Order: sequence, then structure tokens, then C-alpha cells
Amino acid sequence: MCHVEGWTRHSGFQNKKQPGFFQKSATRAALSKCEGPPSLQRATPSRTTAIMSATATATLGWKFSSPVLLRRRSGSVRAVSRAPQAARADAAIIDGKAIAETVREEVREKVAAMKEATGKVPGLAVVLVGGRKDSETYVRSKKKACGEAGIESFGTDLPGDATEDEVLAVVAAYNADPNVHGILVQLPMPDHIDEERVLGAIDYEKDVDGFHPLNIGRLSQRGREPLFVPCTPRGCIELLERSGIPIAGKEAVVVGRSNVVGTPAALLLQRRDATVTIVHSRTPNSEEIVKRADIVIAACGRMEMVKGSWLKPGAAVIDVGINAKDDDTKKRGYRLVGDVDFEECKKVAGHITPVPGGVGPMTIAILLQNTLEGAARAYKYEL
Ligand code: GUN
Repeated sequence: MCHVEGWTRHSGFQNKKQPGFFQKSATRAALSKCEGPPSLQRATPSRTTAIMSATATATLGWKFSSPVLLRRRSGSVRAVSRAPQAARADAAIIDGKAIAETVREEVREKVAAMKEATGKVPGLAVVLVGGRKDSETYVRSKKKACGEAGIESFGTDLPGDATEDEVLAVVAAYNADPNVHGILVQLPMPDHIDEERVLGAIDYEKDVDGFHPLNIGRLSQRGREPLFVPCTPRGCIELLERSGIPIAGKEAVVVGRSNVVGTPAALLLQRRDATVTIVHSRTPNSEEIVKRADIVIAACGRMEMVKGSWLKPGAAVIDVGINAKDDDTKKRGYRLVGDVDFEECKKVAGHITPVPGGVGPMTIAILLQNTLEGAARAYKYEL
């Protein structure tokens, strides 16, 4: 750790070989939970037709329970005991923790190969202004993840009353540092600091958050390529793609329009040829619109807002929310829940992310990936 102009500046570099990286294919794990409909052969002996109490579609999962009704060709109906009745199985859980571990392992291997070939490693600088406990926790996790991936981490912690010029000076120093390939200013910053000005001051070639106007502008335009894409939205897309969920031609609804998640998530889905709608706090009929969606990304910051009744059966649901819900059964008095009512939605969705263990771990994994890609570009090294 060193001190620069009165602020705490850290330079941590670990290159420990990490035991315990998840080896199993997360995609396989997620997909293995999605059962196809079993043959109805045994329930439909010749001369009878099964009348199922639920609608069967080939893409939905099924489980079996109580009797079905059998109709004779004559038209009379009899109940057959112990014959199976179809009911939808719960959604396949998208294991974000396992998928994030896979991404982190991929990054670690590529960082090692890059070091071997060039003698260089990627560097990430994280700037924290003020002492928000949640931000401090996120920043600590980001630095730890860098160490585990073989990425050099730099950091500057500024007090909550730091001036905007002081923040800009730190950003300028990292812009000029050739060992730094990614700069992240943790949000939110204190109110007296102009976020737009600070984010715009980051060199767009080091903008691992993808929030610089040039990168977000390119993301929004057809035929243009941003240098970086925001981490959480990119993580949502990775979860869908690595779970084998098609996006092109599908109807997608994003709940929430924030600069950090909702808007870039919608742009990413559109670039993958989904038909995209954003609903937000002023949308009068969000439920009706969400019900059309094959893919739902919930990032509205409202605890358990998306209900099971809002979903089209079989929809893929990505829950970005993290909210603390009172829970006396927990030692700490609360548990984490998302913007989706998980217990209800898992009964209707085809795939769903849990909270915690869904989108959360992906944000850091993608941050590492973005930093690696930034370094590779700087060194003209092909990944
Ligand atoms: N605060 C919450 N999410 C993010 C993020 O993705 N990037 C930054 N810089 N700050 C955040």
C-alpha cells in the first residue's frame, strides 16, 4: 500500500494458484434440471384418449401425480386410479455461482497464458469515495477476485468529503499509468460529486464498467462496437447463453431503466436480435407487458415485485435485485431476496436465477474478463 497526495492507494498483487475452482460445467448442471415431457404411451391405451388436466407443450418440464381421466372412443369418461397426471415441474435453476466460477477459471487461464507470452499481466484500479459499507464490501471482493485471477489490483480510497477535483486527479493518474488497463469508480458516489463528469473522465480504453459515453453510445448503435460492455448486463447475457436459452427472435422485457443495468441490458438483448421492451416505475401496465416475455430481466430495485402471475409459462427469468428481507429465523434477522418473487415465479418460469447465487457472482467475473480484454488490447495480444 502506498500513499499518493494524502489518499490511500493500494497496490495488491497476488498470483496464488487457487484450489477449489469449480470444475463442473455449470451449463450442464443447469440444463440437467430441465426434463422433457415423458411419453404418454402408458396413459393412453388403444381406444382411449387421455385428457390431461394441464396443457402440455414440448418445451416445458413435467412431473406426475394423481389420476387422469380417460375417454373411450364412445365418449364416456372414466377415472383411472394411479394413472399419471401432468403438472409443470419447477423451473431449472440457473446456477450463477457455478457459471461465474467457470468464467473466472477461463480468465485465470488466459491471464497465465498472457503472462507467459508477454511477461505482462492485466491491472485493475478501483476508486472508492466515502465509506458506504456495501461499497466497501464490493470493492474488497473485486480486489480479492483480481488476486485469484492473477490480475494486479490498484486502489484509491478517498474520504466522503473529497472534492470532485480530487477524484478527477486520481482518475487522471490511473489513465496515465501503463500498468492499469481498467479503471472502476465505485458507484454511487457522494451527492456533491458529478458522476457524469467523473465517469466521462475515465479513458474510454480503460473503461471496464462500460459507462463512458463513447462506449455506451457505441453499444446503442447498430454496426458500432463498444470497447467495454457494463459488467452486470453482460453477466445476464452470459447466464442466458451459457444456459442454452435462445435470445434471437424472442420477446424480452427488462424491468427497470437504470444506466448501470436496465438500459444496457436492453441494448444487449436488442443487439442479439430480441424484441425488447423496458418497463419502469411509470409504466401503467407492466404486468401485462411482462406476461408477453420469453425472457425477463428484473432490475427495478423493488423487492419481489415480479410475481408468478406476471410470467408467461416457460419464461427465462434473470433476477438482478438484491434486497434485505426481514426474517426472524435468520441469525442476522434478514435474508437476501431479489426483485422477483422466487417462490411464485419458479413454479411458472422455465429457467430462473436465485438470489443470492444468480447474477451477483457474474458481475465480478465479467469485470475480470473486461480487464483482461482491456489489457490484451493494450498489448496487442490475441486472446
Ligand atoms: N455499483 C453497483 N454496481 C456497480 C457497477 O457495476 N459498477 C460500479 N462502478 N459501481 C457499481
